[in-house]
Amino acid sequence: MSATPRIPIPNSLEAPLPMTLPRLGEKKRLGEPIVMVTAYDYPSAQVAEEAGVDVVLVGDSGAMTVLGYPSTVPVSTDEMLMLAAAVRRGCKTPLLVGDLPFGSYEASDEQAIATAQRFIKEAGCDAVKLERGGTSVQRARAIVDAGIPVMGHVGLTPQTATALGGYRAQGRTAERALSVARDAVALEEAGCFSIVFEAIPAAVADLLVPRLEIPVIGIGAGAGADGQVLVFHDLLGIYDGHAPRFAKRYGEVRAQMVAGVAQYASEVRGSSFPGPEHAYSIDEEELDRFRAGLDANLPVQTEA
Ligand code: KIV
Repeated sequence: MSATPRIPIPNSLEAPLPMTLPRLGEKKRLGEPIVMVTAYDYPSAQVAEEAGVDVVLVGDSGAMTVLGYPSTVPVSTDEMLMLAAAVRRGCKTPLLVGDLPFGSYEASDEQAIATAQRFIKEAGCDAVKLERGGTSVQRARAIVDAGIPVMGHVGLTPQTATALGGYRAQGRTAERALSVARDAVALEEAGCFSIVFEAIPAAVADLLVPRLEIPVIGIGAGAGADGQVLVFHDLLGIYDGHAPRFAKRYGEVRAQMVAGVAQYASEVRGSSFPGPEHAYSIDEEELDRFRAGLDANLPVQTEA
């Protein structure tokens, strides 16, 4: 085996270079907005890759959007790893972040490190994300110390939405906004390379973003964040569950999917699909020989 480290060499000078943590930090310093989107499978990862996004998050929102759970809470680590591995196979350029699911990191530093390592080793993620301040700050520090990059997540943290009073905007009083600020600063000090602000007033985010060195990715946090993230299925109109006010729709893909499958069903029932153009041919001579072979060895059964 060669001792020379492998450096990714692009196929052409136009091929985008894989996103790295220093390049993300550089984007914040240069004021270049960071684009992040969720993905949960091979095709959505390919779409994110081709669209040229910077960061792909295998969010635990996949619990609801692709696995049909009523919230993000029930999804298991094994389920998340299967989604993340499929996403890894579909995208090379964006930084790939795997969301640590509820119950997979809170109990101890050892548990948090072990789960984070699975996302890196088994699914090929570049980094992991965890939710909340409080005890999650120490878990983030432990994972970072184990050599794995961590993204934080404050404001509305869906894994503990019940304790927050439901799926509602956070930081709407000075005390609550200060609590969000304290969590964000603590996560930065713990070594997180980036942090998600979910559902907090834009004015609160505007005051916090310049006070943090790491890039802040907003979702329902206004235009002042260093980047934005949207859930793939909300963005394209694939998910038919409740859509929060920040989930701007850029497509109505679900309606197109339903229309496509309904058209297919109608054509099968009306015998107009498949047509000759969808079938394979065989030489007449070969067909005659086949027919003769069948007649000799497998005659058509007639009812007694
Ligand atoms: O799970 C998810 O999709 C997320 C984003 C909303 C940031 O955590």
